[in-house]
Amino acid sequence: MDSSTEELVLESPHGLDVVTEVLIAVASGRFDVRAPRSFDGSAMDVLAFMVNATAEEVGLLVATLDREREDLQRARDQLVLAEKLAALGELSAGVAHELNQPLTVIRMITDLLRSKPNATIAECAADLATIADASRRMGRIVDSVRAFARGRSLVVESIDPIAPVESALVLVQEANRQSGIRVDRDYQPDLPRARADADRLQQVFVNLLVNARHALESSTTTSERVIHVGIAAQGEQVVYTVEDNGPGVAAEHAGRVFDPFFTTKAPGSGTGLGLSVSHGICVDHGGSLCLEPRDPVGARFVVRIPLEREAKRS
Ligand SMILES: Nc1ncnc2c1ncn2[C@@H]1O[C@H](COP(=O)(O)OP(=O)(O)OP(=O)(O)O)[C@@H](O)[C@H]1O
Ligand SMILES: [Mg+2]
Repeated sequence: MDSSTEELVLESPHGLDVVTEVLIAVASGRFDVRAPRSFDGSAMDVLAFMVNATAEEVGLLVATLDREREDLQRARDQLVLAEKLAALGELSAGVAHELNQPLTVIRMITDLLRSKPNATIAECAADLATIADASRRMGRIVDSVRAFARGRSLVVESIDPIAPVESALVLVQEANRQSGIRVDRDYQPDLPRARADADRLQQVFVNLLVNARHALESSTTTSERVIHVGIAAQGEQVVYTVEDNGPGVAAEHAGRVFDPFFTTKAPGSGTGLGLSVSHGICVDHGGSLCLEPRDPVGARFVVRIPLEREAKRS
């Protein structure tokens, strides 16, 4: 017996009590307990030997499983990060454009102010307020990019359920505008708070919104391109819907869109990880991500995340 194991000392150190005690310890996650041996070759001693060997085996097995679970979690975290980096490439042009607008406003107004060296602060108040607005807007964009790029494990806390959707929309709005896509918001008023990692959910919505835009860009329909984003509380969950009126998911692909590396995009333009990583993030929250049929055309993705009141009870 090695020094880290503990030999049971029972009031009655014989018989089945000892063996039962070791098995109860194993079942409750303690693998360092051993039954005392008499080494007299009796049936009880053989049983003690076997139960000790079993405790040791199970202990080793559980340690291996724990290590593998940690390796798997690390691999998944890396996958989430890799997928994010790929998406950042896709978003960067839009974000640069997005930052350029307030920057241009700031430049124009500072040039204007420079041309009026004798103006009083009161006379410049409106211009200064515009500069403040523009810089706040830049701050919001930078915050959204920073939240998106952050690579860390899941941090679940009480969040405003609208926040991750809005910070995702900041990142995609310029690309949507360029592709003539209207975004409709339908948010239930006075939504209760959710238990979630806002950065990770932002990643889910960026993926869904980018997919919706790609689908709409590939669509040949003459009707207006629309992405509809809904948020509502339903029972103990907050339910997000992201729908588009593009061509929708082909019936033969519906069962595979959440598979890692499944993509219908041209080689080099899609990793096929977006939905699989997003699905993993939703499940990690104790929620779900599914594809639902949309009438008459298009795709509807539904994200369900626990509300704070539900999480508190469990
Ligand atoms: N809104 C949508 N409309 C139609 N098809 C969709 C939509 N969203 C996803 N799909 C289908 O699901 C597939 C998988 O999507 P997923 O986001 O996982 O990967 P991807 O978009 O192809 O690549 P990426 O890793 O760059 O996101 C897409 O290739 C597309 O066929
Ligand atoms: Mg995608």
